[in-house]
Amino acid sequence: MDLTLYILIGIFSVVAQAAPPPITMGFSQIGAESAWRVANTKSIKDAAKAEGVELIFADAQQSQVNQLKAIKTFILQKVDVIAFSPVVTTGWRKVLLEAKKSKIPVIVLDREIDKKDHDLISTFIGADFREEGRRAAHCLVDALKLKKENKAGAYRVIEIRGTEGSAPAIERSKGFREVADQSGVLKIVRSEGGDFKESLGKEVMEGILDGTPKASGGFDAVFAHNDNMALGAIAALKGRGFKPGKEVVVVSVDAIREAFEAMIAGELNCTVECSPLLGTQLMTAARDIQSGKTLEKRIITRAGVFPMSSAKDELPKRQY
Ligand code: AHR
Repeated sequence: MDLTLYILIGIFSVVAQAAPPPITMGFSQIGAESAWRVANTKSIKDAAKAEGVELIFADAQQSQVNQLKAIKTFILQKVDVIAFSPVVTTGWRKVLLEAKKSKIPVIVLDREIDKKDHDLISTFIGADFREEGRRAAHCLVDALKLKKENKAGAYRVIEIRGTEGSAPAIERSKGFREVADQSGVLKIVRSEGGDFKESLGKEVMEGILDGTPKASGGFDAVFAHNDNMALGAIAALKGRGFKPGKEVVVVSVDAIREAFEAMIAGELNCTVECSPLLGTQLMTAARDIQSGKTLEKRIITRAGVFPMSSAKDELPKRQY
């Protein structure tokens, strides 16, 4: 045999041995409700490409019914692994049992499902939302102390919640209340749903402001469950003549680029990071399942907290 051909065959067989077997992953995404979600989708698609995972991506447009349909389709397609970010925590058991019957492993990404259904999944990869709520409350206390004197001893907070029944909305509320109750200086005077959308954050805030004459000084701060709703609330506050970031302290979660821009403009006081860059971890988990490894039931993603004073230095480093 010709020497070059011999070497080439050698190289091909080494490469063939090294390349892991292909994986097909069905992924059901919630939708595109926020900049966070858009960055999360990009991270998943980029990582699938980089890891050679064939991704069947389905956008549920915020609907659990669509997510259930997508997962059932993945089962019929006999994908190697199913992953999904559940829009709400409940209502998954039946479809997860179907996946189990078909011996298809399931990874839950970003948002948690009911603890009682964890026996049916391989792992849950995502942030500690309750801790994010706690961090937001600490941030708020720090920012309020810097900005204001409150003679009554309690700062009045408006909460703008994320999607009803979703893990981040439930957990961020709980974490925030834990610290608020302990602190004795934060009092939630109003709590409205904004579905994690900027447009609704603005609408909800305008509704509140319409019933609150500026002169009454009805509140001191806004805690929005994500940056996009905070940006909407900031627009509403400015539209009604308030100075967000100064007269009204605003704190939120996610740490998207636009939040850093708002902090540099002096309109947002603090953002608690929740990283959407989960793609690589997801693909690694899929490969680990393929190679027979038992995964940790819970993989917690780490994140930071960014007060207004850090925004200028941090903005150039942001990846989303
Ligand atoms: O589940 C994560 C949350 O969902 C993010 O905080 C929010 O922006 C997104 O829509």
